[in-house]
Order: sequence, then structure tokens, then C-alpha cells
Amino acid sequence: MSELAIGVFDSGVGGLTCVKELTKLMPHEDIIYLGDTARVPYGTKSVDTIAKYAKEDIAFLEQFNVKMILIACGTVSSVLMSRPLFENSSVSSFSGVIYPTVTAACAATRNNRIGVIGTPATIRSGVYGKAIREIRNDIKVFSKACPMFVPLVENGYTDRNDRVARLIAEEYLEGMKQEEVDTLILGCTHYPHLEGVISEVMGEGVKLISSGAEIAKYAERTLITGGEAADRSEQGKLTLYCTDSEELFAENVETFLGHKDNITIYRCSVK
Ligand code: DGL
Repeated sequence: MSELAIGVFDSGVGGLTCVKELTKLMPHEDIIYLGDTARVPYGTKSVDTIAKYAKEDIAFLEQFNVKMILIACGTVSSVLMSRPLFENSSVSSFSGVIYPTVTAACAATRNNRIGVIGTPATIRSGVYGKAIREIRNDIKVFSKACPMFVPLVENGYTDRNDRVARLIAEEYLEGMKQEEVDTLILGCTHYPHLEGVISEVMGEGVKLISSGAEIAKYAERTLITGGEAADRSEQGKLTLYCTDSEELFAENVETFLGHKDNITIYRCSVK
């Protein structure tokens, strides 16, 4: 079991924030990643459509006999709370981003005021607020959907000095600043790619919690506790699949992972 790969998926490049952290924490693990770039964004679609896409993504990863599936997508993770996406799945170990992320946010807040930003589907579902209240009911939660962040990331507008990104971030985050949150959940895995600009707008005192990084930490804990972490000395292989052009995807991969070594990219179909 320990020698099998970890499966990770997202609608696009967002889940690479999880992959980056995973490869840092567990460099010996093989990782198979799927970015459904032909159908991104998921976050503006209905729950039925997101559930259908997610089941196809899961079925795609199952064929590699992975030991665990990480839903590195806030939007699909929010649907997982109401739809049995893993019913009849051959993979028994899986996780979405919600619980690992809220656990970190609850531990981080000092003034008990947490902000959550995510896609329209995630914010509409209210799952982050519900999950926070299950842990602590003395925390106030403020939410905001930021639909234009995903296209900014997918198109490479991520520099902290980018004028367009800055303007949009100011527009979206003004209310959060007024509510004086001291912790902000980046509830969509694309958003850490905009961490620089978000952090400039929110100010230094606000702690940003990356859902992609938190699910990676969760995976490390789970695999080590379960005795299923890879037991070898060589570097793990990173195999990336995307459902649209692999050239376009490769450009983003290099930008977001900071390298393209030891990585293979294939185009695939998941339908
Ligand atoms: N990265 C995803 C998320 O965490 C999806 C963004 C989208 O496809 O809209 O929600």
C-alpha cells in the first residue's frame, strides 16, 4: 500500500498549491494530479454539475489504484458535504479541504473573527461556517465569493504588483477589512497563487490560511499514522494530467511549482 501514489484533483491549477506542499512534506511520494482544465471553473456551476464532474475526476484517478484521493478543490469539497461522491469507490481514504482548513483557522485566530473567501458555489453552501461552528461556536465568520479570482489565476495575473489583480482584490476584500478579521481562509485552492496581492490588501496582521497546504498536512499526518507513507529514498514521481492543452498547462505548472523537473504532463479525457 505504501508504494502506491497519492491522487489529487482540482478543476485546474489550484490544486497545485496542495501538490507543492505535499512534495515539500513528503518528497518520496508518487503523486498523480488531475486538473480538469477543459471545464474550469467549477465554482460558478450548479451542485449537480459539480458532482457529476467530480465523480468523473474520481473515476479517472481510481484507475491508477491510488492509496488516497485528495480533493484539492474547495468547490468540490463543499459538494462532498451533501453528496456521496465516494459511494462504491475502490479508494477508501479520501479528504476534502474543509476540515483540515477550518481546524488550522480556529487555531490561528486571536480575535475570533475569521473571514472565508471562495468560489460562489463554496460560499453559497455555507460549509466553512458550519464546520467552524462544529469546532467553536464563539467565532464570528464573514464570507465573500470572489468569482473573478479563478480566471485571474488561470490566466497568470498573479503578481503582487499586477494592477488588475490588485483592483479586483480591493473590491472583494474591502468588507473583510472592515470586519477586522485576523484570519482569512483562502477557501479556494486557486487563491494562494494570489497570496501576495491578497496579503497586501488585507494588511500584515491578517493570517492567510491556504486550503491546499492544509489538506497536504492532513495527508502527511494520515499516511504516517496509518503506516502508509512511502518507504523509499528516491524522489517521488509527479505525473500531471490535464483535460485541455498540455502546453498551456505546462506554463502554469512551471510558474506555480517553481520548476518542471521530474514532472510528466499528459492530456487526458475524463468523460
Ligand atoms: N480551485 C477550486 C476551488 O478550490 C475551483 C475553482 C473553480 O473551478 O471555480 O474551489
